[in-house]
Amino acid sequence: MKFFADTAEIADIKELASTGLLDGVTTNPSLIAKSGRDFMEVTKEICAIVDGPVSAEVVALDHEGMMREAEILRKIADNVAIKVPLTLDGLKTCKALTDDGTMVNVTLCFSANQALLAAKAGATFVSPFVGRHDDNGLDGMQLIRDIRQIYDNYLFDTQILVASVRHVMHVYEAAMIGADIMTAPPSVIKALVKHVLTDKGIEGFLADWAKTGQKIS
Ligand code: E4P
Repeated sequence: MKFFADTAEIADIKELASTGLLDGVTTNPSLIAKSGRDFMEVTKEICAIVDGPVSAEVVALDHEGMMREAEILRKIADNVAIKVPLTLDGLKTCKALTDDGTMVNVTLCFSANQALLAAKAGATFVSPFVGRHDDNGLDGMQLIRDIRQIYDNYLFDTQILVASVRHVMHVYEAAMIGADIMTAPPSVIKALVKHVLTDKGIEGFLADWAKTGQKIS
């Protein structure tokens, strides 16, 4: 399973990238606004830190406008993935861009049928939002199971990018289902490593080691 960071904060991206465990980054207009940075500038900086795909989202709602914006965004770097909303214009744009060899992330996916359309449009990634699904009393992980089943039924190679991840159990469940990628806030990615018994174990080993008076040198 690939790990993407869902953020436009450079310091966080650098920290995660230094572990060698980061496979890509996703941004959206809200995350860009939160960063307070210039969209083009910060996206370029992220693309230089991470080798993998970096999603940059269009804001136009019509196909022609999306194509114009995508043209500007894809010039930022080779690893830019154009993010388009799951609308008819977004799907049309997805088809045109992927036919042309550009990576596309179809975002704001909330149903299995929408994911089916994204795959038919040749999407590189589809982003089902599990957290927002749960927020509305729906079962976000059931959506991931359904999409996995449909994509496997027809051997679609669109990658399922689990988005709107809020906690470590989302990551666990997505991995159990066989989602291809998950994108999560850096705090969630860092929380994955935590276990009380690991901390306790280190404490015990270090206490016993101190008793030996030895050094590794
Ligand atoms: C995905 O690409 C989105 O940027 C993101 O996961 C949205 O998450 P949110 O529902 O926490 O805003």
